[in-house]
Amino acid sequence: MPKTSVTVFAPATVANLGSGFDVFGLAISGLGDSLRMEPNTYGGIRIRSIKGDEGKLSTDPEQNTAGVALMALLEHLGVNRGFDLWLTKKMPMGSGMGSSAASAAAAVVAANHLLGSPCSKEELVYWAMQGERIASGAAHADNVAPSILGGITLVRTTDPLEVLRLPVPSRLHVAILHPHLELPTSESRKALPRQIPLSDAVRQWANTASLVAGLYAKDLSLIGRAMEDRVAEPARGPLIPDFAKVKSAALDAGALACTISGAGPSIVALCSSRPQADRVGAAMREVYLEKNLSCSLYVSAVNRKGTVITKR
Ligand code: HSE
Repeated sequence: MPKTSVTVFAPATVANLGSGFDVFGLAISGLGDSLRMEPNTYGGIRIRSIKGDEGKLSTDPEQNTAGVALMALLEHLGVNRGFDLWLTKKMPMGSGMGSSAASAAAAVVAANHLLGSPCSKEELVYWAMQGERIASGAAHADNVAPSILGGITLVRTTDPLEVLRLPVPSRLHVAILHPHLELPTSESRKALPRQIPLSDAVRQWANTASLVAGLYAKDLSLIGRAMEDRVAEPARGPLIPDFAKVKSAALDAGALACTISGAGPSIVALCSSRPQADRVGAAMREVYLEKNLSCSLYVSAVNRKGTVITKR
């Protein structure tokens, strides 16, 4: 019996986790993209509607990460069928929480289901990653991998794609402050240094290795120390209003670590419990409230499910 309609939800994500630029990613709960998909008889891909984007996203499938990822998957599978898509954004865009990745993740998971699941979730990460190319100019997988697979992921290489799933200490929570300004990933990537001193590189790869060790050992303090970022954060921090003050406030309130979420402007603090994340989040928001800067606060455990089917 051919499947005729499916609705999926792909979660928002925090990429980088400090030291692991383009490598680590973590899925969160509550925020993300909902996508309904149906096969059509017209033969092409049509994005029938996008809600929650304030009219900012293109319904041209070649200009939308959902459409680009879907076309890449269909071409790979040699499938000559059309699909209609209805996308609902339930998360802020240009926020550093993987908005473009959530659309791409949702599209490939929905199509895969309608086609009888020819690909594993791991394989779908590769096709979702193709959508990121139009969003940021680079096919990085550190948002699409956790959005599809859930939990905390490590992208060892994108060519060929090799993604590892890392253990998630159960108490881990995040507090995310979202300043109400958009920072396109492409702009934020332009701020990155082209070269880094060897001493910083040594420290950075020691930190990434230590972060993995910390996750396996469930050593929350080591995880926090290992998120120190000598590469992206120093270059991108100045693009975010009062980043240094928010980071200090988070650490003073007990956060394990605080850094930029993905390409920013959101700021993420890793915390060892939900009550701590609530306290840390409140302290971060206070910095913005004192200066009358507009922001939102999200507190979440790590989402272990990734992209899920919500309606068949
Ligand atoms: N790793 C990417 C970056 C994530 O930091 O540019 C973008 O969402």
